[in-house]
Amino acid sequence: MNLAELDYEEKLMTGHPDIILKEAQPFSELMMECRCALMEVETKLNVLNEEFALKYNRNPFESIKSRIKKPLSIVEKLKRKGFPLTVESMEENLFDIAGIRVICSFVDDIYAIAALLVQQDDITLVEAKDYIKNPKKNGYRSLHLLLEVPVFLAEEKKPMKVEVQFRTIAMDFWASLEHKLKYKRDISDAEEIFQELKECADIISNMDLRMQEIRNRIEIQRDDS
Ligand code: GTP
Ligand code: MG
Repeated sequence: MNLAELDYEEKLMTGHPDIILKEAQPFSELMMECRCALMEVETKLNVLNEEFALKYNRNPFESIKSRIKKPLSIVEKLKRKGFPLTVESMEENLFDIAGIRVICSFVDDIYAIAALLVQQDDITLVEAKDYIKNPKKNGYRSLHLLLEVPVFLAEEKKPMKVEVQFRTIAMDFWASLEHKLKYKRDISDAEEIFQELKECADIISNMDLRMQEIRNRIEIQRDDS
């Protein structure tokens, strides 16, 4: 069948050139809005970090990384989930186009910062997935928050979704290695590696708790003196 004969519905699902042309400008606008939403949330996190540094003499974050999902990954995800390849569909169906990863040293700081962020009056918590309290079967741990934050554009105030992942340094180290396994389909001893990773995840979780306890003991002594 000639591409021109495809009906509109099919064009939407296949990324037909007609659709791509029509969607180019709205796509650039959405990407710009996502970048702005990232700046908003990143600034909020940096403000909290500054305040903690001054008041409690500690920086809760080891690092913050922001990223906009790449166009190819956006298209792949829409296709995988059977959604139309349009900008409207991206806004309705993909909530992780704008993503921030916050790496903390201690688990307590994750919950403290997450709570302070969520209680701000221009932030809406859309969804929280606590994979620290309820780790995934493979051992994955992180706290995922789906937030909505207003972006003030020239002619409108637009609520934008941002996914924030909070992890400890150890959890992040683990997730990077596990991510590598996911993309290697030809590994012969994958099951063994999977088991090994699961064990490491448990060790890491235990270590995070112990490090937290050590810090608490040091802090108590510092408060006393
Ligand atoms: P999506 O449709 O992919 O968004 O599925 P979901 O919403 O059920 O995913 P979830 O919110 O649980 O996780 C989304 C993101 O968390 C992924 O893109 C990864 O960055 C990270 N993540 C989740 N699970 C794992 C995991 O098992 N291993 C690693 N390395 N990262 C993970
Ligand atoms: Mg998701």
